[in-house]
Amino acid sequence: MDKHYDNAAVDRLYNRIWGEDIHYGVYLHEDDSIELATGRTKEVMADPVPLGSESLVLEVGCGYGSTARYLAERFGCRVVASNISETQLEHARERTRGSAAEALITFEEADYHELPYDDNSFDCWWCQEALVHSPDKPRVLAEAFRVLKPGGYAVVSDQIFRPDRLDPEETRAVMARYHTDRLSGPRDYAEMIRNAGFTLVEYRDWQEHAATHRRKILDRMKDLMPELREEIDPDTLERNYRSWSDWADLARDGKLGFDYYLARKP
Ligand SMILES: C[S@@+](CC[C@H](N)C(=O)[O-])C[C@H]1O[C@@H](n2cnc3c(N)ncnc32)[C@H](O)[C@@H]1O
Repeated sequence: MDKHYDNAAVDRLYNRIWGEDIHYGVYLHEDDSIELATGRTKEVMADPVPLGSESLVLEVGCGYGSTARYLAERFGCRVVASNISETQLEHARERTRGSAAEALITFEEADYHELPYDDNSFDCWWCQEALVHSPDKPRVLAEAFRVLKPGGYAVVSDQIFRPDRLDPEETRAVMARYHTDRLSGPRDYAEMIRNAGFTLVEYRDWQEHAATHRRKILDRMKDLMPELREEIDPDTLERNYRSWSDWADLARDGKLGFDYYLARKP
């Protein structure tokens, strides 16, 4: 179980650097801000999904709830936004209070490997940059398939490493961070999605956006370092700086990407 985000110092760091979106942006211009680009990601991910005010969406791994708020506000749909991290759920509830989306969203604690929801109950299952944390991705996708209604859509984006391009030391570092002994690349994701029973409707390789986003996140961390040193313990800062710096290099070198899959339950 990845409880990374429940650590108070890690939570503070993500809040300060990533803001409310713990996901990559889609950049049209080099000087797009992180916030503009992450807003665009939600938009382009949702564009092909036929959602409306009658739709019921299940978001898993919902972070600080920004995508749930976006979907509810754009489509008027109801969203069950779930997460394993109680710390993030608390922030998500706070940030949603008083917003136009509040009446449409419920925030619930749930592990995406074992969802406490009935079969065939959602129109859309949304998993944005959260599958990377799972040691058993086929099980997560089997749960998605189970809770979706026939004809329902699974929307997935993820930070996906390119196992065939990583050298042995890089492979070891990535596996240690994600507590896994196996790395899945983009083709493995497509295969897992099909093996769960889905029809894959669309795939997009957004590798260049991963490179831009990782560089911008690292630059922001460098700029804010004097303030961060006042607020966050040196060990957390050092550990995260090292891995974000490594991930920025991997993304620049095409070894870490960002991919989008849209799938449908027949
Ligand atoms: C990189 S963050 C993405 C958050 C959010 N989807 C976003 O895009 O802003 C990964 C999320 O996956 C969640 N997560 C990790 N393991 C999980 C699990 N077993 N079940 C549900 N959520 C999980 C984390 O708590 C975190 O919210």
